[in-house]
Formats: sequence, structure tokens, C-alpha cells
Amino acid sequence: TPETEIRKGLAGVVADTTAISKVNPETNSLMYRGYPVQELAEKCTFEEVAYLLWHGELPTGEQLEAFQNFERSQRHLDAGTRRVIDELPLSAHPMDVVRTAVSVIGAVDETLTDSASMIDADLNMQRSLTLMAKLPAIVAYDQRRRRDLELVEPRDDLSYSANFLHMTFGEVPDLVVVSAFDVSMILYAEHSFNASTFTARVITSTLSDLYSAVTGAIGALKGPLHGGANEAVMHVLEEVGTADRAEAWLETALAEKRKIMGFGHRVYKNGDSRVPTMKAALETLVAKFDRPDMMELYDALEMAMTSRKNIKPNLDYPSGPAYNLIGFDTDMFTPLFVASRVTGWTAHIMEQAAANALIRPLAAYSGVEERHIS
Ligand code: SDX
Repeated sequence: TPETEIRKGLAGVVADTTAISKVNPETNSLMYRGYPVQELAEKCTFEEVAYLLWHGELPTGEQLEAFQNFERSQRHLDAGTRRVIDELPLSAHPMDVVRTAVSVIGAVDETLTDSASMIDADLNMQRSLTLMAKLPAIVAYDQRRRRDLELVEPRDDLSYSANFLHMTFGEVPDLVVVSAFDVSMILYAEHSFNASTFTARVITSTLSDLYSAVTGAIGALKGPLHGGANEAVMHVLEEVGTADRAEAWLETALAEKRKIMGFGHRVYKNGDSRVPTMKAALETLVAKFDRPDMMELYDALEMAMTSRKNIKPNLDYPSGPAYNLIGFDTDMFTPLFVASRVTGWTAHIMEQAAANALIRPLAAYSGVEERHIS
């Protein structure tokens, strides 16, 4: 093969087509199946957006009812999965708990009988919806066991987000909170060939099963350069402490060559299209919980990063403080990203399986020349 240019990190490499979403850095826009994500966040619920990602169209009233009925029937955390979670020490990171729980759900899926069943489109659609329905129970239970609180059973009379918050906090919070949370789920749902989604596609391309692909994607999302950034953002904000200390903190951090979590993006170079919508949701929470100090700190660090490095926030920057105000433990933030992104991951898994080609790039060898044992 010709010595072609190495594209480290596959930066700028177009690896395949996708019809699921379009990220456009020129216009700083993101569309899910053709709809601008800002419109979806304003006019739809996360259930409708999940349906759109999987089926390509927004659901009719009838389709949404059937979809919700099935999703609500699958919300229960079964005893087997719960037993495995209980075996994991509280020192285990919640991302490792979520990853393990998905593995268990896959391991006990009796429809996974042979290779054909691993890529069966109807079975994968059902598995996708089941994972979407069960992840809130896993995340909510993990937060509660860390606080020595009892499991709260799901309710089938609540929307996805209201039920998620009810299982976590034992009550249905104010509509402002439910709405801000639902907006975050919509904004986190899908983002083309990001590292965790591409991981899921690589695993799917070998004709492995959906749960293996989602488990791999969770592993990729955990890293602070990707989904782990929303947890890391909260630690940064707590480290800075107050708005007046932002500039000095940043000077020191940059002098130490630190990556400032929640800023920058591989594709968006003039700011992440989702940030204005998530920042507006954060502002509703700041008003609701009367925390102007959080907004001042947020704005001060953003301004310092813009003036010092001209690097703009990504979605993780407003999401971190929003989840903090809602009441989630900081190390539960990336599992929340998993609960949302499982819809995008599974849409890509099904797309990859439908028109598959084994993903296997080349490497330019840089080791020692051929030699022989004397
Ligand atoms: C997500 O891909 C997706 O779509 C991901 C995501 C999704 O929806 O799936 O959008 C979700 O993961 C958002 C990103 C969350 N990660 C973080 O917030 C971590 C902090 N960000 C950086 O690590 C970085 O911006 C990346 C990893 C996000 C992108 O890095 P790139 O494209 O590889 O760019 P780079 O690291 O080569 O940076 C270019 C320059 C460098 O300076 P030089 O070494 O050339 O002097 O910009 C600097 C970097 O040092 N830089 C930063 C910075 N981001 C870039 N410097 C300080 N802090 C930062 N955050």
C-alpha cells in the first residue's frame, strides 16, 4: 500500500455514511434525521426523539402510545441485574457499574442464540428499547445505594424523564427540573461518529451482538476526553470555587498544560451547536434553585477561556452544573450521558448491521526491520 499520510485520531477522516444525524461545523448545526436539534429540544420529548433516531420519522400519536407502553413495561430493574450491582463495591465507578449491568442484561438475553439472532433487526430494535428503558433504573439504583437509600420502583404513569427523576430522588420534581433534564437527554442522544459511537460500530462490524457494542461504547464514553468530561467539569468548577478566581485558576491550569474539561471539540471549532440550548436549560435551574453564583462562575470561566485560548464550551460544560443543581452525585453524570446516548449508539449499531463492512484500518509499520533468530 502506498505510504499514505497518517491521520492520527482519524481526524477529518470520513469513515462511512450515516443517515442518522448531521454535524455541520460550518453552520455550527446538528440535525437528527433532518430536524435541527434545537427544535427537537423545544418541541419534543426524549421518547419521541428516541423513536425518531430509530425509525427515521417522528412517531404518530398511535405509534408513540405503543412505543411508550412497551418502554414503560421494561423499566423494572430485574433481580438478577440488581444482585450483580449489589456485588460491586461503592468504590467502583458508576460507569463501571453501568457497563457491568449492560453486560449482565446481554448475558441473560435468551434471544441471543446464534449469529443470525445477533444481528436480527427486529430483535435489535427491541433490545435497544429495553436498554433505553432499563438504564434509568440502573443509574437511579446505583446513586441510591451509594446514599444507603432503598430502591424506588419505576412508575408507568410517568414520562421517561419524570420517572427517571422519581426513581433517583423518590419524588417527581418540579416541571422546570423535569423539562431541563429532558432537554439534556435530547441533546446528548446522538452525535454522528464520536468515539463511543464509532466504537459501537467497530464491534458491530464483526457481526458481534448489540450488548457487546454498547458495553464497548460505555468504555469509550468513560474517558474525560469524551463523556467523562461532564463529571470533570463539575470538579473544575468546584476547584475554581468563585467567579473572581476563574482567571487566576485558568492561568495556573494552562501553565500546567491541563486540558480544561468542557471546552473544545474535535469537530466544532467555533463552539458546540448544542450549548446555547443546554445553557438556557441550566439558567432555568439556576433561577429555580436561586443559584446565581453558579451562573457567575460558569460565565467567568467561559469568558476567561475565550479570551485566553479562544476555545468554546462543549455540551458537557452546561450539563455538569445542571445535573449538580438537579441533585445527581457528580460521578453519576456520565452514566446520565449513557442513558441518553444508548439511543444514538443503538441507531448506529442497527445502521451498521444493515449495510455492514468489517471496520479494519491499516497501520504504517514503525518497528524494527525484519530479523532472524541466530
Ligand atoms: C464530547 O466527538 C464528539 O462529538 C464528542 C461529543 C459527543 O456528543 O459525542 O461532542 C461529546 O466528548 C465533547 C468533548 C468533551 N471533552 C472535553 O471537554 C475534554 C477537554 N477537551 C479537549 O480534550 C479537546 O478539546 C477535545 C478532546 C475535545 C478535542 O481535541 P482535539 O480535536 O484532538 O484537539 P486538540 O486536543 O489537538 O487541541 C487543539 C489545540 C491544542 O493546543 P496545542 O497543543 O496545539 O497548542 O487546542 C488545545 C490543545 O492543547 N485545546 C485545549 C482544549 N481543547 C483543545 N487546551 C486546553 N483545554 C482544552 N479543553
